[in-house]
Amino acid sequence: MKIACIGAGYVGGPTMAMVALKCPEIEVVVVDINEERIKAWNSDKLPIYEPGLLEVVKECRGRNLFFSTDTRKHVGEADIVFVSVNTPTKTCGIGAGRAADLTYWEGAARLIASVSTSSKIVVEKSTVPVKTAEAIGKVLKRNCLDPNVQFEILSNPEFLAEGTAMEDLRHPDRVLIGGADTESGRKAIDTLVSVYAHWIPRERILTANLWSAELAKLTANAFLAQRISSINAISALCEATGADVQQVAHAIGTDSRIGNKFLNASVGFGGSCFQKDILNLCYVCESVGLKEVAEYWFQVVSMNDYQKQRFVERVISAMFNTVSQKKIAIYGFAFKKDTGDTRETPAIDVCKGLIRDGAKVCVYDPEVSPEQIFRDMSTPKFEWDRPNYSRSQSHMLDNVQVVSDAAAAAEGAHAICVLTEWDEFKTYDYQAMYDKMVKPAFIFDGRNILDHAKLREIGFIVYALGKPLDPFLIKGY
Ligand code: NAD
Ligand code: UDX
Repeated sequence: MKIACIGAGYVGGPTMAMVALKCPEIEVVVVDINEERIKAWNSDKLPIYEPGLLEVVKECRGRNLFFSTDTRKHVGEADIVFVSVNTPTKTCGIGAGRAADLTYWEGAARLIASVSTSSKIVVEKSTVPVKTAEAIGKVLKRNCLDPNVQFEILSNPEFLAEGTAMEDLRHPDRVLIGGADTESGRKAIDTLVSVYAHWIPRERILTANLWSAELAKLTANAFLAQRISSINAISALCEATGADVQQVAHAIGTDSRIGNKFLNASVGFGGSCFQKDILNLCYVCESVGLKEVAEYWFQVVSMNDYQKQRFVERVISAMFNTVSQKKIAIYGFAFKKDTGDTRETPAIDVCKGLIRDGAKVCVYDPEVSPEQIFRDMSTPKFEWDRPNYSRSQSHMLDNVQVVSDAAAAAEGAHAICVLTEWDEFKTYDYQAMYDKMVKPAFIFDGRNILDHAKLREIGFIVYALGKPLDPFLIKGY
């Protein structure tokens, strides 16, 4: 059996590496139009940072795992074609700011149709709006020159989270496969089940109809993000009342019906998926006339924007209502720890918000390159997923500095903002940082990972999300 995967990104690369590792008799080729990305996949400096990924790639690459730009050849030869291209939010036209942009997906479908001389199973790996398979089916059927070629479309959404992708792929809670309820549809489902059954217990491989599988992915992300917005909303109330959000989260999380995961209040959720997929869900709801349902889910995104803005306002108001010309150290730019990914990271909005008020930010992140940070800070919202964005916000860059160690970021700074929960941030010598900062020295812990009591002992004024105010501030001196 031959598998091709169109899209060598955060999903296509790791997913196919795991398939190749667990199915040594299957040839897996990951293809992409981006030559640089493919070059990097063929080197020891992979295009994405994901713990454990390099080891797996090294074991399989050249054996039964290949990365190539020869899309036509490998897609043409494959029995199963996974499509794992980006499906960003539209930036212009009807549905701008909400609907999924399926340009890349449609391009991939047209390519599959044009090179197919044998029947294929086409697997939606990308997250797509419900009913996409119907549209893709039409594109495939009407563009294939060989009338004997049959396409069977399956939905097999990916649930991995970045930073833990390899573990998630090795031991997933479940794998979901949706297909048509026809003889050929069931046969295609069985074929894909047999691939995953190489390493995943059969009871964890769920099958469903196509629309359920497509919708389950959007729903899963909406529910996960909703938990974060819910606890973030409560964090605002905690700050106003003297309650402690971590104690509240612990108290509710021990109710087995609620569960204790995904209840960490934060400066806001980021990542390429949550916001995009909820907006996409809202747009689908609106398109079928479900305005109230769309509004309900849109609140999850609004609350997230509010949380990021609230954080910026907290920093500014705490620092005597002015951050003008003040150096602010930013610890962490990635949207979560253990990844170098910055897509929709809350750090972008927080830094831009501080700069708009006159601050000078100095960023340190252990994995994100300076080039990436400068690119993010000069790119308008939603444009990051496109190679040639037109308008740039270069004025932002005059006020951004990127350094390669945390102590340098703190030197001469008025404040430190912790925006990503990197473990190394917990281990620093904060006394040494304090000594080199302008006084009063502030710390704004947007992830609640630091030892606040100890920091206060050193002399810092500490603001932590959803935590009672610094006793120093309550006393009013
Ligand atoms: P990505 O941007 O990292 O990768 C997509 C790749 O597809 C890019 O390298 C791009 O060059 C390539 N591509 C686009 N059109 C192509 C074409 N016609 N031919 C060949 N290559 C083409 O995106 P990603 O993060 O891997 O996400 C892919 C999909 O998976 C999205 O729909 C996303 O919502 C979904 N998803 C992502 C995650 C995640 O954690 N990143 C998790 C689950 C699902
Ligand atoms: C998410 C989903 O978890 C995954 O199943 C899906 O396939 C892709 O989208 P990802 O975005 O990679 O994965 O990371 P995730 O761990 O879900 O974190 C998303 C954002 O939420 C991060 O910014 C993270 O810091 C934030 N978060 C997460 C919180 O603020 N609090 C939490 O309790 C959990």
